[in-house]
Amino acid sequence: MREESRNRDAMSPLTAPALYPIARIKVANSEIKTFLFIADAIARASEPGQFVMVWNPGVDEIPISIADVSGGGEQIELAIADRGDCTHSLHQKREGDLIGLRGPYGRGFRIHGSRICIVGGGYGVAPLLFAAKRARELGKDITVLVGARSESELLYVAEFQDIGCDVRVATEDGSQGFRGVVTELLSSTLRGEDFDQVLCCGPELMMKRVCGITKRAGIPTQIAVERIVKCGCGACGACDLGGYRVCTEGPVFDAEELEGTEFGCWKRAKSGKRIKINNNNCSLSSVPSPAFTPEYEPLLETHLCGIEFPNPIANAAGFGVSGKLLYRYAIAGAGALVTKSVGVREQEGYPNPTFFEVAPQTQTYVNAMGLPNPGIRDYGPEIEDAKRANVPLILSVFARDVEESREVAKVALNYPIEMLEFNASCPHSDFVSMENNPKLLRSIIRAIREVIHPHHIPLAVKLSPNIGDIAGLAMTLERAGADAITAINTVICRPIDRTLDIPILGNPTGYGGKSGRALTAGGKQVVFSLYEELKIPIIAVGGIFSAKDVIDYARNGASLFQIGSALVTQGHGIFKRIKEDLKEYIRNNGYKNIGELIGEAHRR
Ligand SMILES: Cc1cc2nc3c(=O)[nH]c(=O)nc-3n(C[C@H](O)[C@H](O)[C@H](O)COP(=O)(O)OP(=O)(O)OC[C@H]3O[C@@H](n4cnc5c(N)ncnc54)[C@H](O)[C@@H]3O)c2cc1C
Ligand SMILES: Cc1cc2nc3c(=O)[nH]c(=O)nc-3n(C[C@H](O)[C@H](O)[C@H](O)COP(=O)(O)O)c2cc1C
Ligand code: FES
Repeated sequence: MREESRNRDAMSPLTAPALYPIARIKVANSEIKTFLFIADAIARASEPGQFVMVWNPGVDEIPISIADVSGGGEQIELAIADRGDCTHSLHQKREGDLIGLRGPYGRGFRIHGSRICIVGGGYGVAPLLFAAKRARELGKDITVLVGARSESELLYVAEFQDIGCDVRVATEDGSQGFRGVVTELLSSTLRGEDFDQVLCCGPELMMKRVCGITKRAGIPTQIAVERIVKCGCGACGACDLGGYRVCTEGPVFDAEELEGTEFGCWKRAKSGKRIKINNNNCSLSSVPSPAFTPEYEPLLETHLCGIEFPNPIANAAGFGVSGKLLYRYAIAGAGALVTKSVGVREQEGYPNPTFFEVAPQTQTYVNAMGLPNPGIRDYGPEIEDAKRANVPLILSVFARDVEESREVAKVALNYPIEMLEFNASCPHSDFVSMENNPKLLRSIIRAIREVIHPHHIPLAVKLSPNIGDIAGLAMTLERAGADAITAINTVICRPIDRTLDIPILGNPTGYGGKSGRALTAGGKQVVFSLYEELKIPIIAVGGIFSAKDVIDYARNGASLFQIGSALVTQGHGIFKRIKEDLKEYIRNNGYKNIGELIGEAHRR
């Protein structure tokens, strides 16, 4: 069910933001302005509860709920609170200014029953207006409970009344309606009235209380949740909420789905670090997932660097920060898990846009995430969550110099990992990618080796084709003690918006890296040339979309295979699909095991 909706969502436009003039700006209350855009393709595709990514050029791109679709289905309205850098700058805009939009994204409200209670607080009221409008078109009876600190912060009260909703207001200071918080108003409403469904959006602790109240009353409840959104399409995992990605599997969830997640306890900073939002009896630990051991698949079992892999298909680094999301890859069939690259210090990464498809349906993407990560010392809880799945865990790390690399390696020893992968090749990091400095990289590899080899943890080094002689560098690293080479990382590029003549990516230098289909052919070629020169094993990554790609990479010389961009369109089901197709190929062509394919192209 979840996977189906993910694949449907993957059809959403993922290309770079398109520019629209602001058609109208209105002051909605003391903190919120509404912005109207004539954006018919987005408007026609939008469902209540979905969101758009709003690009404030040169500043950031942020997720904003669709508050209304009007003008015969051609216009969208957004209600934006003045909160931080991007929203404050949006509040200074004038009608006619160009703003980038893309979407709609995510999964919206599903409207059931005939009597619906809508509960909203702050700017959370915005998506509920669209939901109420759609529900009224379906002939439902709607009661709306709107909460705010005071009358001046109420949103959309008249608009709900205009479409025939029964609107009740709660203000904390009693300046209008019920004096108190909206959850108290909900409790007293439910004492005398019955509803088929509650739809809710607002501050998280308020929503948590609503879930408690409606659970006791036995009313099915859906809530729209917020987390940090970066890629917006399920790739990066920044918006993780207990293994669910808010941008694709949310933002609207059934209340039961969130039981046993961190909802109402903690959220993540832009770096992915856990931060408390509630001090009452809440810890920063996750509720443990059930322990999981994958099935034995003799045709796919793989040995590499002394490690036994149940199958050779892993995720690529960067497709998930949280251990819960990595665990889900294992449940879906991955034979190894690779973490986000983590460094010595917490870093939040670049502003958005951080990820988009170069052109529709090309499955070639550009990203400049900027290595957001909580810092290796705070990465323990993610490793603990991932390790609920009994598959090898590869910790991806990066460092700026020898000192940092030694420090990272020492901390890594505290974790139950099977392998370390040193990311020497991020083409858009804020420091020059290590692979451009072979002398330094060699010293780093030696330093890491010294720390981890006595503990029998092998070291892979990840390279990209952005340097001229990748095979030459790989040979140098083999001599320095690398146990495997991972290839390839993304290919450098710098996309420009032609109208504004500025880079599209939020990275201040405008640089990013290409991934996906555009890497398939080149990646296979790189692996072929590496196999000619190296004795150590090769881990393939770059444009793997099918079993055929795995077979080609294996023949060219790779023994482990990482999947990245293909997860965006194919979802987690890709692990199982590739494995089934591989097994069929191995059986039909008389091989005993996938190992017999490795390097075959060189033996002809
Ligand atoms: C699915 C979704 C729908 C949203 N809909 C709306 C909407 O309709 N109207 C509206 O005003 N806001 C909405 N938001 C929140 C909005 O995206 C953030 O307030 C905005 O990104 C803040 O950007 P900033 O640069 O102004 O603030 P920053 O300077 O980045 O941060 C200011 C504060 O906002 C917090 N914050 C930053 N990003 C987010 C985020 N993605 N979610 C929650 N808190 C965040 C920060 O932790 C900080 O406390 C939505 C968020 C999500 C995830
Ligand atoms: C959103 C995103 C984040 C990434 N983050 C990392 C990372 O943290 N570390 C790393 O070594 N590579 C990272 N990469 C590169 C991938 O691991 C992979 O090498 C690249 O995307 C090519 O594989 P693909 O074509 O299957 O996506 C990232 C790529 C993307 C698209
Ligand atoms: S923002 Fe949701 S996965 Fe990237």
